[in-house]
Amino acid sequence: MTLPTDMLAIAIAAPGGPEMLQPQRLPLPHCGPGEVLVRVAAAGVNGPDLAQRRGHYAPPPGASPLPGLEVVGEVAAIGADVGGFAPGEAVMALTNGGGYAEYVAVPAGQVLPVPQGWSFPQAAALPETWFTLTQTLVMRAGLAPGMSVLVHGGAGGIGGAAIQICSIIGARAIAVVSDPAKAEYCAALGAIASIDRTREDIAERVMVLTDGHGADRVVDVVGGAMAAVNIAASARAGHIVQISTLEGGTASVNLRQMMAKDLTLSGSTLRPQPAATKAAIARRIHADFLPALAAPGFPRPAITRFALDEAAAAHAFMESRRHRGKLILQTAFGGAKDPS
Ligand SMILES: NC(=O)c1ccc[n+]([C@@H]2O[C@H](COP(=O)([O-])OP(=O)(O)OC[C@H]3O[C@@H](n4cnc5c(N)ncnc54)[C@H](OP(=O)(O)O)[C@@H]3O)[C@@H](O)[C@H]2O)c1
Repeated sequence: MTLPTDMLAIAIAAPGGPEMLQPQRLPLPHCGPGEVLVRVAAAGVNGPDLAQRRGHYAPPPGASPLPGLEVVGEVAAIGADVGGFAPGEAVMALTNGGGYAEYVAVPAGQVLPVPQGWSFPQAAALPETWFTLTQTLVMRAGLAPGMSVLVHGGAGGIGGAAIQICSIIGARAIAVVSDPAKAEYCAALGAIASIDRTREDIAERVMVLTDGHGADRVVDVVGGAMAAVNIAASARAGHIVQISTLEGGTASVNLRQMMAKDLTLSGSTLRPQPAATKAAIARRIHADFLPALAAPGFPRPAITRFALDEAAAAHAFMESRRHRGKLILQTAFGGAKDPS
């Protein structure tokens, strides 16, 4: 395949608002040893991209300064020492940055096949959130069949993936939402119930929905005052997985209640994890989740599409919090492959 020398990419001109996302022509990334060069059909938009654009989530040393943590597309080139990929193969990948572009080089261990039956735009919605939850909720917090799981931000990217992973594993996801349409969306993904945070007491409702047992696992993106709610809503020997702190990074909690309930609180960010950890997560997704994702009738996340050069509009829309599921940026190549 003959590759172009330059490409359309979205750069962050300076920390600030969505208008700081600016289309530029940049040289194609080099496909180094151990890497796969992906011709991007679509890139997913994620909460961490917003934080990076605002100047609150710097790329780790050596990573691309361009935003974009997940892509789907075709293998365009294969680096030295990489086996198991063919040019033109459809893949999805967790990137280390640089996904908002027509081409991105990704460590081979972070590249997975597109699940059978998934379109490029649908699959673009998977890597960042599924890697995050596989590492935190599954591998670290030991999600198991039959558990009750309280999922904050259920209609968002992270929340939706948490609900779907629960449904694959046989756990019971209880989604927290802010309106009935979002509750309906979470039910379609597999949530057994929703709690409207604007008018219901979350901890009280969890206790009712679990017959007084509480949540065995909590996936929290809210933080701040929600930390106390999570402890109150937890079952004995529960585990609270802190994914984000949208409402505040500090909290006052009742440590005695944590001790009395034998609780674990863990926190993690995916992006700075070493390549070996990301590759181990990818292997787990491949083994445990790809077959279920490919099953006929498996629900797809809601997708709102933007063109790659509309990245600023996509960020503004995400910040309005009106979306359900995921936003994606489609390249011209992706549009030609999937004109729907
Ligand atoms: N730790 C990691 O490695 C990791 C990885 C990926 C993402 N994240 C973080 O996880 C968070 C969620 O990411 P996402 O991609 O799922 O975003 P998203 O699609 O915007 O979802 C966030 C959800 O949280 C709810 N929410 C509750 N309080 C909120 C608040 N104060 N501000 C914004 N939303 C609020 C929103 O729904 P309602 O308003 O309807 O309740 C929304 O559905 C982000 O902060 C992101 O940076 C962390």
